Amino acid sequence: MQSRGITRSVALANQKGGVGKTTTAIHLAHGLSLCGHRVALLDLDPQGNATVGVGGENGLPCDFPQLLQLPSGFYLLPANLVQDPTTLDRMILQLAEAGFDWVVADCPPRMDEWGWAGVRSCMQVIVPVQAEFFAMQGLSQMLATLDRIQQHRHGFAELLGVLPTMVTPSDQVSQEVLADLRENLGDRILQSTVLRDPQVVEAASHGQTLFQYKPQAPATFCFSELVREVLHGRS
Ligand SMILES: Nc1ncnc2c1ncn2[C@@H]1O[C@H](COP(=O)(O)OP(=O)(O)O)[C@@H](O)[C@H]1O
Ligand SMILES: [Mg+2]
Repeated sequence: MQSRGITRSVALANQKGGVGKTTTAIHLAHGLSLCGHRVALLDLDPQGNATVGVGGENGLPCDFPQLLQLPSGFYLLPANLVQDPTTLDRMILQLAEAGFDWVVADCPPRMDEWGWAGVRSCMQVIVPVQAEFFAMQGLSQMLATLDRIQQHRHGFAELLGVLPTMVTPSDQVSQEVLADLRENLGDRILQSTVLRDPQVVEAASHGQTLFQYKPQAPATFCFSELVREVLHGRS
């Protein structure tokens, strides 16, 4: 594999569980790979939801030690394969040398040694938040943590943006929370949002992403838009 340019690394992080980190990581990784990029998805959560969600059991060994090549075309570092989180930044460098264009890291729902390793080792961080009543809870702490890391490790842990997830257009609270997030966060919130869509759960239970399972589902369009924004910025 030849490197085709700068390798970008993005961590999906929020110390809250159930906000859509894993779902976003999986769809971002698959979406970028559908755009022709060579992508490695790193499952940093010992619970291994991303590993199961992409059908990791169907992955095949490849040239890069520890990575599996998935039938859908991107690569997976399954949960629990890296023993020592302090070696993660070295591994990402090796992935860059091996020609990967993108590294997408799915962090656990707490800032433990794996959560820290994920955000410290990646250039950018997306913080998914559920568009529900307690959305802001813990968010300012998370953003302050990223600011601190960035000051110490120049060029790393830059906030790519907060991503509102599980947005329900028909639900007034969800719309109000979204409006509040936009007002409070200004340009720190991404333009993209992810709609709540039961087909997200269905796809995961089949070990597939929505790009495979339901290309026409509402949330599929949301994830395509997110991929576009991550690649090219705001429209
Ligand atoms: N857009 C969505 N619409 C409906 N359900 C979703 C959506 N995003 C995630 N989910 C479901 O919500 C749950 C938590 O999502 P997950 O991505 O695992 O969050 P986290 O990794 O932050 O804990 C999972 O069951 C997932 O399938
Ligand atoms: Mg998760």
